[in-house]
Amino acid sequence: MVATEDETDEEEPCIYLDDIAVLPEAQKQGIGWKMFKKIIETLKAKAQTKNQPILFDMHLRNTSQAMLDKHANDLKALGVELTEEAFVPDYYDEGDDALYRIYKISN
Ligand SMILES: CC(C)(COP(=O)(O)OP(=O)(O)OC[C@H]1O[C@@H](n2cnc3c(N)ncnc32)[C@H](O)[C@@H]1OP(=O)(O)O)[C@@H](O)C(=O)NCCC(=O)NCCS
Repeated sequence: MVATEDETDEEEPCIYLDDIAVLPEAQKQGIGWKMFKKIIETLKAKAQTKNQPILFDMHLRNTSQAMLDKHANDLKALGVELTEEAFVPDYYDEGDDALYRIYKISN
């Protein structure tokens, strides 16, 4: 999992999730969600220290979107709110589409 400090298209500071991947043979055992939850907890602590919400944006493939949708209620319980969603056609080199999302992590 790789995440970097960045800016949204509206030039708001954010953390961009560059990549999250689990070896194919280890997928569907809860590892992806465990990693995602870990970064949410880290960013939540950062939001509390800064006393302001943090924007967390990302491009999602079908698999990662399915993983996050499966945990939509868990995200809400962690104080994570989906604030923007946009379909991005042909985003990946091989022509796959992406779903761009911005989550707001409350302090
Ligand atoms: C997205 C990814 C990191 C999820 O990791 P994971 O350890 O498999 O995730 P979890 O076990 O926590 O979650 C499982 C859920 O993820 C989704 N999922 C995971 N692998 C999937 C696959 N091959 N096909 C469809 N959905 C998949 C499903 O919703 C699944 O729930 P289910 O088991 O009830 O069907 C992993 O699938 C992956 O590495 N994919 C390839 C790389 C990628 O697409 N990265 C995202 C780009 S940002």
